Amino acid sequence: MTKDKRIFIETYGCQMNVYDSEIVLSILEKEGYTPCSGIEEAGLILVNTCSIRENAEQRVWGRLDRFLQEKKKREVTVGVLGCMAERLKQELMSHPAVDIVAGPDTYRQLPVLLQRLETEGQKQIDTALSLKETYADIEPVRTDPNGVTSFISIMRGCNNMCTYCIVPYVRGGERSRDPQSIVREARHMYEAGYREVNLLGQNVDSYLWKNPGNPTESVNFAQLIELVALVAPDLRVRFSTSHPKDMSNGVLYSMAMYPNICTHIHLPVQSGSDRMLEKMNRKYTVAGYLERIEKIRETVPEAAITTDIIAGFCSETEEDHQATLSLMRQVRFDSAFMFQYSQRPGTKAARHFADDVPPEVKTRRLNEIIELQSAISLERNRECVGQTYEVLIEGTSKRDKGALFGRTQGNKVCVFPALGHRPGEYVNVTVESCTSATLLGNIVE
Ligand code: SAH
Ligand code: SF4
Ligand code: F3S
Repeated sequence: MTKDKRIFIETYGCQMNVYDSEIVLSILEKEGYTPCSGIEEAGLILVNTCSIRENAEQRVWGRLDRFLQEKKKREVTVGVLGCMAERLKQELMSHPAVDIVAGPDTYRQLPVLLQRLETEGQKQIDTALSLKETYADIEPVRTDPNGVTSFISIMRGCNNMCTYCIVPYVRGGERSRDPQSIVREARHMYEAGYREVNLLGQNVDSYLWKNPGNPTESVNFAQLIELVALVAPDLRVRFSTSHPKDMSNGVLYSMAMYPNICTHIHLPVQSGSDRMLEKMNRKYTVAGYLERIEKIRETVPEAAITTDIIAGFCSETEEDHQATLSLMRQVRFDSAFMFQYSQRPGTKAARHFADDVPPEVKTRRLNEIIELQSAISLERNRECVGQTYEVLIEGTSKRDKGALFGRTQGNKVCVFPALGHRPGEYVNVTVESCTSATLLGNIVE
């Protein structure tokens, strides 16, 4: 009997997981697997998982139950990849749907695990973490729908140990990828028609590659974005995430110097209270954060600044919460990702601090944060009305087939009538109106 080699990967979590799923596809295509469009058609279902908050994990448990129904109908193999695989190992192995569990650094082993599953007829697991693996030599199989923008992972893992965060435990220690392999990948994407690459890392500012053959030769992040910017003047370069404790002026100078490095910085603040920042082990103060904001605005005045905020971290008082709202009013972020604190087993916060803000208080604080941010985002977008921006077209608007959408350098989504233009082209768009999430405008020649 020949095994059904149609594969479907479902991806949860951050952009790095999206990238990793493409790496996995690349590894398995070499083994004769071909992607298909849904779990009903697949002989191999893989789910690439996230552990960042409890609800991210709950969704995956729900999916495993769904895959089990599929398994009852026909022969299908199910594998769990990613951060939950790393965190929950045996617990996942015990789920009746699961055949394979593979952590983020073991994807090269997948063909072996699949082979063993077949020959031994037993579930397989590999969750070893590595201090070397960067998948540098594997070019991912792109699954993004538009063929215009895509991700490149430049480093893996994290050494920061923010007390609330599971990432260092499930992704292992930080390691930087060979810059030449990053530049090569960017060049290949450009040749394939892509016009934007998004360089990914948990803390891109600590990117540092040392030549193993010559330790005095090294490349830092400011140098890396220059190398990528030089691939082509019409290849946009984005990056995330910047860490306020590490974001260097060099990065801002590169941004000011190369017109194709997008003027957007995602700089997660997490809280506006020094007491909370200390407890989170973020290693900066509100004053230090504001100094970075000032430097950004001085060096790249048009830069959009976005952030992440956590509501209701351990022992957060009403005063701490007010400090966050007040910092938001002061900085006026263009947009933000906002979350309620979710205790993650094994982290320092889970071991040492009580998760003592009642759920209804967390929810109320989060709602106040969201409400304030949408008012600020709307104000920010209104400031764009009447201005003209360079927009890279990504695709057709979902609501209006005659309209296109793309992004400004500041990462704002912009919708406008197509006038015969296509995805992958740059156009200048004058903004006529807006919502808190979208700019609406018209192409000007
Ligand atoms: N490396 C990035 C963040 C990666 S996780 C950085 O340091 O900024 C993305 C966001 O998820 C974080 O910025 C944080 O706001 C949020 N997050 C992480 N752990 C969380 C937790 N336990 N509960 C709620 N939000 C969390
Ligand atoms: Fe988590 Fe902090 Fe690392 Fe970001 S920097 S991934 S929040 S430990
Ligand atoms: Fe989630 Fe892992 Fe990314 S925990 S946010 S998928 S690094």
